[in-house]
Amino acid sequence: MSDQISVPDEQSDKIRFVLDGEVIEVGNVDPTRTVLQFLREDIYRTGTKEGCAEGDCGACTVVLAELNRDGDDLSLRAINSCIQFLPTLDGKELITVESLDAGGELHPVQKAMVDCHASQCGFCTPGFVMSLFALYKTNANPTRQEIDDALAGNLCRCTGYRPIVDAAKSARDVAAGDDWLRQPFGSQTIPVERVERLQGLRREKSLQLVGQDKSFFAPTSSDELSEILAAHPDATVLAGGTDIGLWVTKQHRELSTIVYTGHVDALNALSVSATHIEIGAAVTLSNAMAVIVELYPDLDELFRRFASPPIRNAGTLGGNIANGSPIGDSMPALMVVGTSLVLRSGVDTREILLDDFYIDYQVNNLQTGEFIESIRIPLPEDNVVLRSHKLSKRFDQDISAVCTAFKLKLEDDRVKSFRMACGGMAVTVRRAFNCEAEIVGRRWNDETLGRAIDALRKDFVPISDMRASAGYRLQATQNLLRRFYLESRGEFTETVYSYGRQG
Ligand SMILES: Cc1cc2nc3c(=O)[nH]c(=O)nc-3n(C[C@H](O)[C@H](O)[C@H](O)COP(=O)(O)OP(=O)(O)OC[C@H]3O[C@@H](n4cnc5c(N)ncnc54)[C@H](O)[C@@H]3O)c2cc1C
Ligand code: FES
Ligand code: FES
Repeated sequence: MSDQISVPDEQSDKIRFVLDGEVIEVGNVDPTRTVLQFLREDIYRTGTKEGCAEGDCGACTVVLAELNRDGDDLSLRAINSCIQFLPTLDGKELITVESLDAGGELHPVQKAMVDCHASQCGFCTPGFVMSLFALYKTNANPTRQEIDDALAGNLCRCTGYRPIVDAAKSARDVAAGDDWLRQPFGSQTIPVERVERLQGLRREKSLQLVGQDKSFFAPTSSDELSEILAAHPDATVLAGGTDIGLWVTKQHRELSTIVYTGHVDALNALSVSATHIEIGAAVTLSNAMAVIVELYPDLDELFRRFASPPIRNAGTLGGNIANGSPIGDSMPALMVVGTSLVLRSGVDTREILLDDFYIDYQVNNLQTGEFIESIRIPLPEDNVVLRSHKLSKRFDQDISAVCTAFKLKLEDDRVKSFRMACGGMAVTVRRAFNCEAEIVGRRWNDETLGRAIDALRKDFVPISDMRASAGYRLQATQNLLRRFYLESRGEFTETVYSYGRQG
């Protein structure tokens, strides 16, 4: 490590992270204090704004830099600081909008925002700048769709998105300068000092903040995680916090013991074998989805419509499954492809089909002290048609009214196998067994479709809520089955989601 880099000695009861080249140590803190609260209220760094405090508006966007898996370079991701608990910063570098200031000189993305007149009241602007900064540092030549996707978690109520998109396109034309923060992706060098500083923050002993009322543990191995959960059976397992963060900021729940999975090596592993994709339960949605989409390209749009990049950069597939919302978007598709979960308790592991995981509304098969270690997704089969459709009022960053998934295999004009699963239609995401039974073994024709559509009434008795009425949900699901039928026969060619994205 270079001589000039000084890192304080490790203390397992202090959070240590880097901010503008300085190692910040924080001890004796409420573990559910959010990064945003720390920035604005503790160190008066108020450039980062609070709009919604629930991950929806992007005003609080900051960027995290972390060592990559090899530990020799940094990887960057934008996240929502309003629902990220402070101890999860341990070992990382935090980059806020103030970090981009180079002695009063605007960063290229800021300059582009100014030049394109992309800000009016300015409240949303720091969040947009940070999302654009993350894009600038991770994508050399973003397409219009990639720009739109990168901004899907940022709301602006006055300027309109066209000038902001123009700024995203033109940021690379602004003179960058030598500083690593200002160098765009593709021409950036490895920031050796930054890497070494984070290497210096690696821990021998895991972080443990033990207070009178609240404790936070960040184990580094599955064994340690098991032991802590055995000793604290009531603990809350925290992954990305994109559900749990809202329990605190919106429901004002007090969490006495938190066990964070983000440092557990095995839970951050991701591999593809001859039979399946194995995704550690703490792998972010962004990283998990990238691998899944490579093998299942039909799921690309579903995942683009899952929350926003900052949420996908923090949230995990394990958290989506364990949270078990009836409108969780990953589960219908994962169910129809035959996904299973590896659960661990103490030294014992067991594998359970996702189909069998849910018992009732937000009640699952996990026993006390048990956790999800990994998610096993079988590799795609040949000659299968797979689709998953999310129905919501907006394309980006919206909650599903219903979400369906279908998998069909035909043999000699008969249905060899068919699976359908739905979210938003019952207290849990679940398979449509009656509908499936009407289809398997029959010819794939209009008559079979008619029977299957009727059978959906036996499978689901949906509820009415503010998102959709029961009648709408049933009708929409029946229509989506019809759509899948047409898609599978090559008779559905219209791109319904083309809504004017140009240029
Ligand atoms: C603005 C916003 C938009 C969203 N949009 C969508 C969307 O479009 N579609 C959608 O489906 N969801 C959406 N969500 C919900 C959320 O992002 C997902 O459910 C996410 O996958 C949760 O993962 P997490 O890692 O953040 O979980 P956390 O919040 O950390 O945990 C969620 C639950 O899972 C449990 N848990 C986590 N890991 C484990 C483990 N290894 N073993 C056992 N239990 C575990 C926790 O104890 C907790 O009960 C959205 C959330 C927000 C805030
Ligand atoms: S304040 Fe709205 S996303 Fe964080
Ligand atoms: S400039 Fe006012 S909210 Fe975007």
